[in-house]
Amino acid sequence: MSEQTSWIKQTSATHVGHGGQEWWRTSAVYQVYPRSWADSNGDGVGDLPGITAKLPYLRDLGVDALWISPFYTSPMADAGYDVADYRDIDPLFGTLADADKLIARAHELDLRVIVDLVPNHSSDEHEWFKAALAAGPGSPERERYLFRDGKGENGELPPNDWQAIFGGNAWTRVSDADGNPEQWYLHLFDPKQPDFNWNNPEVRDEFVSILTFWLDRGVDGFRVDVAHSLIKADGLPDHAAHAQMAGTGDASHDNGGPMWDQEGVHEIYRAWRELLDSYNPRDADGYDSAADRAMCAEAWVSPPERLARYVRPDEFHQAFNFAFLETPWRAADLHESITSSYRSNDSVGAPTTWVLSNHDVVRHATRLALPVGQPRPNGIRAEDPQPDAALGLRRALAATALELALPGGAYLYQGEELGLPDHTTMPDEARQDPTWERSEHTEAGRDGCRVPMPWVKDAPSFGFGPSEATWLPQPEVYGDLAVDQQDGVAGSTLEFYRRMLRERHARELGSGSLTWVEGAGDDDVVAFVNSRDGHEDLWVVTNFGEPVALPDDTFVVLSSGDADSLTVERDVTVWFTRA
Ligand code: NOJ
Repeated sequence: MSEQTSWIKQTSATHVGHGGQEWWRTSAVYQVYPRSWADSNGDGVGDLPGITAKLPYLRDLGVDALWISPFYTSPMADAGYDVADYRDIDPLFGTLADADKLIARAHELDLRVIVDLVPNHSSDEHEWFKAALAAGPGSPERERYLFRDGKGENGELPPNDWQAIFGGNAWTRVSDADGNPEQWYLHLFDPKQPDFNWNNPEVRDEFVSILTFWLDRGVDGFRVDVAHSLIKADGLPDHAAHAQMAGTGDASHDNGGPMWDQEGVHEIYRAWRELLDSYNPRDADGYDSAADRAMCAEAWVSPPERLARYVRPDEFHQAFNFAFLETPWRAADLHESITSSYRSNDSVGAPTTWVLSNHDVVRHATRLALPVGQPRPNGIRAEDPQPDAALGLRRALAATALELALPGGAYLYQGEELGLPDHTTMPDEARQDPTWERSEHTEAGRDGCRVPMPWVKDAPSFGFGPSEATWLPQPEVYGDLAVDQQDGVAGSTLEFYRRMLRERHARELGSGSLTWVEGAGDDDVVAFVNSRDGHEDLWVVTNFGEPVALPDDTFVVLSSGDADSLTVERDVTVWFTRA
């Protein structure tokens, strides 16, 4: 046991609670990946009626809102992040009437609904893109996307050197009606996801209209896909040349790329913020912040100071804190990550969000079992070394207990409350993420974290739907982790999540101030106090090293390890109060 003498709360807080009552400052939001949450009709793909039927589960879990990944009309080349009609629901998921029912039912249960907006690109099957192809070079229809002539004698070379995120070139050449090759169009992701031209006012107007369409249907907010990519550097310069100009010398550094984090994106979000604010009711008693509509940026931007520019008071309400998700499982790194997150967000008065898993990354119950400090893999294959599931779960629970005690907002990803690992032995033939093909099988991609939810162990598709069908195969181990195996079972991961969310809510942890604690053992702990007016201080410690003794006057609120012990073992988080 490491020598522990005292637990000393520092004299000044690192983060002072904002005091604002807006729900988005403190909310716990649960991400539903609609393909994989609940299938009502047995076709193997989840759907909106499935989600609606299971909403009471979210109410009981204790979250404040759900964010639903795209459910719009789509050829599903990127699981719905390739939208063909922003104002309709794909038949795979249901109808607009189903969406209305879902929103109404969620509100009855006091759950807010956040929908996913994909403004960087549409599907190549969107009416606008089809019209652009038909209308030909120089037409106003082409001006809605990023068409360019090719380089080389006959335009046979792409307009610049950009590579697509999923692999291969970021440009695809089209042919005219007679089959003769002509212009190229830009797609930062898949060729089936052409990028919009956000310098065209028509595109801007269209998205204001789309936002209005969903706001009028009663949604509480938007999660905005690749919010940092809408504007590209003038003239679409080569990536390598731009990186050198920017002085980074590193063409692979995201922010250094001419397609990311350009100044011009911010005026787009200012306009959207004005629109959202116009929906926030004001009455004789003043502004009703509980009814706020809010938007969260998915922007893989670093360092945190750059990201904070997206959450200035007249832009986004929140941005995902991916720096936290990427932080190695080490005390010093987490301490620094939390400190810098608060520093940057507090400087603009925005809440910090905390996120550990989503549909794009290896789940944290698997990721945290990988060697610490190594880059995060894009999926794990059967032939890769298999992570230690018990270690991964132990660390995942400790990480989540740390996350949910931090002031600010939290994002949870479906199934993490069951301790689901990634499917790390999925047969390659089953893979659907375009990354797998586009990377020429060098990257497994994201299917492992997108596997359908297990609800009932002894049922077809583990209760995901009424049939055996599942669009991705479920691993055997999901049976024992199914909801019915954990519901009401003391010590289960599900009950632990419910407990954490209940305590977080009752103690109003999201609105607290954070003060670091010193002397709690050695450099291998992260320890802080979350304080709120009218509540007792909550002490939180996560241990990364030798066992640490808690102070003598401790009352344990909850522990990701043994709640009866006054010793904190390695990879355990404890919440406690003191006499
Ligand atoms: C981010 C989304 O989360 C991801 O799933 C998608 O593939 C890309 N954006 C492209 O839309």
